[in-house]
Amino acid sequence: MCGIVGYLGRKNTKKILLNGLKELEYRGYDSAGIAVLSHGEFSSFKAVGKLVNLEAKTKGFVTNKFAIGIGHTRWATHGKPTELNAHPHAGHNSYVVHNGIIENYAQLKKELLHEGVVFLSQTDSEVIVHQFEKNLQYSTNAFKAFKKTISEIKGAYAILLITKSEDKKIFFAKNGSPMLVGINEENEKYFASSDTPLIGQCSEVNYFEDGDYGYITPNELIIYDKNANKREPHFTKLSTNKLSAQKDGYRFFMEKEIYEQSSVIIDTLLGRLSEDRIIFDELDKNFFDGINEIKLCACGTSYHSALTASYMFERYSKIKTSVEVASEFRYRSPIMSKNMLFVVISQSGETADTLETLKMAKKAGLKTLAICNVDNSSMVRIADTFILTRAGIEKGVASTKAFATQVTVFWMLSLQVAQIKKSLSSKEIQKQIKYLRAIPASVHVEDALHEKIKRLSKRYLNGHGFFFIGRDIFFPLALEGALKLKEISYLHAEGYPSGEMKHGPIALADPELFTIALLPQHLLYEKAKSNVEELSARDSTICAISPLEFDKADDFIQTKEHGHYMLEFFEMMVVVQLLSLEISIRLGNDVDMPRNLAKSVTVE
Ligand code: G6P
Repeated sequence: MCGIVGYLGRKNTKKILLNGLKELEYRGYDSAGIAVLSHGEFSSFKAVGKLVNLEAKTKGFVTNKFAIGIGHTRWATHGKPTELNAHPHAGHNSYVVHNGIIENYAQLKKELLHEGVVFLSQTDSEVIVHQFEKNLQYSTNAFKAFKKTISEIKGAYAILLITKSEDKKIFFAKNGSPMLVGINEENEKYFASSDTPLIGQCSEVNYFEDGDYGYITPNELIIYDKNANKREPHFTKLSTNKLSAQKDGYRFFMEKEIYEQSSVIIDTLLGRLSEDRIIFDELDKNFFDGINEIKLCACGTSYHSALTASYMFERYSKIKTSVEVASEFRYRSPIMSKNMLFVVISQSGETADTLETLKMAKKAGLKTLAICNVDNSSMVRIADTFILTRAGIEKGVASTKAFATQVTVFWMLSLQVAQIKKSLSSKEIQKQIKYLRAIPASVHVEDALHEKIKRLSKRYLNGHGFFFIGRDIFFPLALEGALKLKEISYLHAEGYPSGEMKHGPIALADPELFTIALLPQHLLYEKAKSNVEELSARDSTICAISPLEFDKADDFIQTKEHGHYMLEFFEMMVVVQLLSLEISIRLGNDVDMPRNLAKSVTVE
């Protein structure tokens, strides 16, 4: 994910910005840049790849007097990771850095192009600086122009902007993307998109609220809130522990990533939904022409999201879909017909088995698509087309937010194909778009829910195994729940279709067998319920997850009522993730780095 830093003061601005960016490296990035304004003169440097490349470029650049500066590490979303697309973006007399996504950038860019503005990058962010300079022509001062610019952009952002017309001010705005400002006794001001660059530099920090905007000078910090009312900063003491700052106070990265799902799904949806249509700018208009079959290939958690996709592609898009574990597909002489769209799914984009299947499909002349979280990864480079899931860097080996964003992309994609093939009415698509917009709320972790799971987890530390069971699209979720548990708790767990238990596994049922039952209200509730009753009658210990009261269970986790089963899916996904997390913590395991596992498996 992108990172932002800013500095106003008399010390070595270049070094401070570069050190700040280094502290944000853990978030992942593919290019970086800085811009410094000192004595009315701008100096700007950008480089693709690691920060050492940027350091090398700035070698002869000296900053030893008062200056203002901004810096950025970029994780590509709009446009490739090139130097031109790296931030800061320049206008004639100003520079900007931006995290987030400007949803209405295409419209603003069109108008600016019409007025003769020249764009150098493919990014959405560049419109901010040009729009600001346009407004500056008609404003009495830079702050008025900045304020107008902020009122004209829509989407998520953390923005820092510097301009020659006011060379002792840094302008800022925040909405949906994190940003804070820190101060110290030496009258310096530091900005950053997370705590870590500020630790050791600042004694106190102010976290901006959504809708905040304003500016700093050597002597002032002026903040306006979303209603344009001036407000006082709320300074708090800054922690001194960097690792815990990276974890934002969570015990493990996995926990942080479970909590982040709501905000990363907002990023996944941004710019891809209108009132009645799904928009994937990445896919050209004719992408699905001639396609009558979809093949999905992946490993691990990504394989489970591929399975969920197969239910949606067949149900909504009415297109024949099959899913294969990549390591199996490679060696079994698969039939690949020309009308087949070949889709690989991968968080990292580097998993060797999945990558190999992509190469096989290319060789066979199939149209290929990669659903991936890492831009410029091998799969993204090789596939004909790619869709980025925008989950941000995932540090926990056990995947959580990457899975959540993959399923979100597949729900959208299956509706887009339905829209093209007219297999769903436009009314139904409109209805589902409303539900898509409700995913972020459905994965929001409520304190009471987490507390309940924490308490209940102590009963599930022994026994001779777990069955996670579900029907239909809740079967892949059961598989994913079982995989999460085994990965981090080292307990034996299996995912099973509820209706299949009676064909063998029910023989294992006794009080030491734990069944985690997914019982959504809006999909085959009665059928799934009687499967669970069969297990209950054989005295299996049951933990039921459902919005509807269920008295045959030993434990019951009540989820909220939702209008659509996919929203139940997302909430139950959070429940099984938290359950695995809490069991694993109680067992004293290293949740983020489980034994024998690697985050990215680049060997066969
Ligand atoms: C490894 C990880 C899993 C992951 C799988 C596929 O086995 O431990 O968590 O699901 O690789 O990774 P990918 O990056 O292709 O999604």
